[in-house]
Amino acid sequence: MNEGSEAKEELRRGLEGVLAAETRIGYVNGSDGKLFYRGYEINSLVEQSNYEEVSYLLLYGHLPKRGEYEEYVKRLREEMPLPDEVLSLIKNIGGRTHPMSALRTVISYLSVLDSMESDSSTKNQERIGISLIARMPSIVGAIHRVYSGKEIIKPDPELGYASNFFYMSTGARPDPVESKIMDTALIIHADHGMNASTFSALVTISTMADMYSAITSAIGTLKGPLHGGANERALKMIQSVGRPENAEKVLKVMTDKGERVMGFGHRVYKVYDPRAKILKRYAEYFAERKGNETFKTAQIIEELMINKYGERGIFPNVDFYSGMIYDAMGFRTEIFTPIFATGRISGWVARALEYSTENRLFRPKALYVGEKGPRKYIPIQDRD
Ligand code: ACO
Repeated sequence: MNEGSEAKEELRRGLEGVLAAETRIGYVNGSDGKLFYRGYEINSLVEQSNYEEVSYLLLYGHLPKRGEYEEYVKRLREEMPLPDEVLSLIKNIGGRTHPMSALRTVISYLSVLDSMESDSSTKNQERIGISLIARMPSIVGAIHRVYSGKEIIKPDPELGYASNFFYMSTGARPDPVESKIMDTALIIHADHGMNASTFSALVTISTMADMYSAITSAIGTLKGPLHGGANERALKMIQSVGRPENAEKVLKVMTDKGERVMGFGHRVYKVYDPRAKILKRYAEYFAERKGNETFKTAQIIEELMINKYGERGIFPNVDFYSGMIYDAMGFRTEIFTPIFATGRISGWVARALEYSTENRLFRPKALYVGEKGPRKYIPIQDRD
């Protein structure tokens, strides 16, 4: 039985394969393993661009001219420092909860400080969106510091977005390679089709709620292990396997039990995730530099997984190698998903703004499979 209709309609669990919106922002080619932002292939953006430019591109549809770029960067830089009240909140939360929960709380709290929160005009939603893009590295950096029992670091106006994020999180200014890798990680996470967290942001904005609410919804959705939460769990899994020679046995136990191996599989990619290809190169770079075994173990897990599941379209996804890179750069495991969110904020904002310009309230239906009724109401004293 359908809500509102007796007509027979197909049930699409998880809305799999359902086209629910139009977009000009990004395109995921799942069969060829390609990812495009506004028509630019991800590899060319990673090689030639930076996060600020990609963020602008996602929001406005074109690569910024010099003046536009400088103005956007200036705006981000000006908005990056956090109000004292927010810093106090982050300190109060401390290490009591997962950093993703802290992040969700802080983003939601920012609306308390904004008297224009409920103005749903595009101009105001855009203003809030850009301020959230600017503040994300400061918030996640501060959460990371407090979670690690360290002092919060203010942004350095001389550093770019990714380098500042690295600096505010780890306390060290990145070397040029680390800066490039941080920038790359943020770029490749910036947008990815109608993924669960983006969809969540769109559902919220479609009710004409404010941008703070949309991003808070998105962060809550990203937290789960089937979505952004997989990067943290993937590294923990690789570390729990330990030495490369353990991989085969441990993996067999996991897959025999029907457990999902974190960092593998994707609803859209049925080939190697192009983002994982990029990150694997950097994981290898750190493995050579730091000489740890984790990369070798990961490679064996990848080989075994592809042999077993490759034919079914299960390959490493973006989360398999990202954690290894963040770990090598000095980030705690619990902060991996907030790093993902720091990249994705531009995609969430861009898509929420795009959707709200041709808004249609999201309201799918559920197939009712419960008691047909009407059932007779029995007073409490008469129930057995
Ligand atoms: N390990 C083992 N088996 C898997 C995995 C995996 N990582 N992924 C899928 N499968 C199997 C399922 O058990 C299922 O098997 P069955 O047909 O015998 O029941 C089959 O493949 C299809 O699984 P679905 O969940 O229907 O496939 P879907 O394409 O919807 O899954 C998902 C996508 C949820 C990401 C899944 O691959 C998964 O759970 N992966 C692990 C978590 C993960 O890495 N998430 C991050 C995704 S990327 C991102 O969000 C940034």
